[in-house]
Amino acid sequence: MKITNLGSRDHASFYVACELFNQISEQPKSILGLATGGTMIEVYHYLVELLLKNKQDVSQIETFNLDEYVGLSQDHPESYHHYMQDIIFNPYPHFSKDLIHVPNGVAPDLEEEAERYESLINQQGPVDIQILGIGENGHIGFNEPGTPFDSPTHVVDLTESTIKANSRYFDNEAEVPKQAISMGLNSIFKAKRIILLAFGKSKREAMMRLQEGKVNPDVPATILHEHPNVEVYVDDEAMP
Ligand code: F6R
Repeated sequence: MKITNLGSRDHASFYVACELFNQISEQPKSILGLATGGTMIEVYHYLVELLLKNKQDVSQIETFNLDEYVGLSQDHPESYHHYMQDIIFNPYPHFSKDLIHVPNGVAPDLEEEAERYESLINQQGPVDIQILGIGENGHIGFNEPGTPFDSPTHVVDLTESTIKANSRYFDNEAEVPKQAISMGLNSIFKAKRIILLAFGKSKREAMMRLQEGKVNPDVPATILHEHPNVEVYVDDEAMP
């Protein structure tokens, strides 16, 4: 696996937006695996810009988000449903609603919701391009250190590290949900092509551990060493 330094967040974001755009325009029935979080914001801004400029048909594009916080309703400003609406689906309102999938974090039976989501990915998949960010602790999706590599979509207890890191998006740490529903490492691994992005010095240590090259369940992203088609792009600060 090669880690490529594209210099700045801006360059890397534009590059990955172009890759997503090309996938969409070349294969109008593509399935995209989407991440949320700070890392993706500029990628999606550039993607929307490209879609608008090219009046791109996205009516047959299907999307699966990696995860959602447990307990946050779709209209909560920090829910990943809301994030996706705000950043992609409202600014480019041409996606087919029934082809947009985000786990339901307020489902009455969370285990059942995780199973439903996993079955849907298996039925519709494989995902053509899966976009990933990385946690400071090496998580991908919300697969925290120690998650078994064969895990399907499941309910996750977030670690202290993730709760602390994500408290920057909430008023205070106490408001960060303690659980999430996340695609598992096995669900992510099934994608045909995976692109991981890491920006800023807070991600440098995780990138150093990824670069070591050993598959290690304490650093969930290292499972990607076993995948045949992974690209990793970073900025100067995250470059190990
Ligand atoms: C988000 C997700 C997470 C984030 C990671 C980095 O859907 O699955 O793995 O990609 O926590 O988050 P940011 O980009 O906010 O630093």
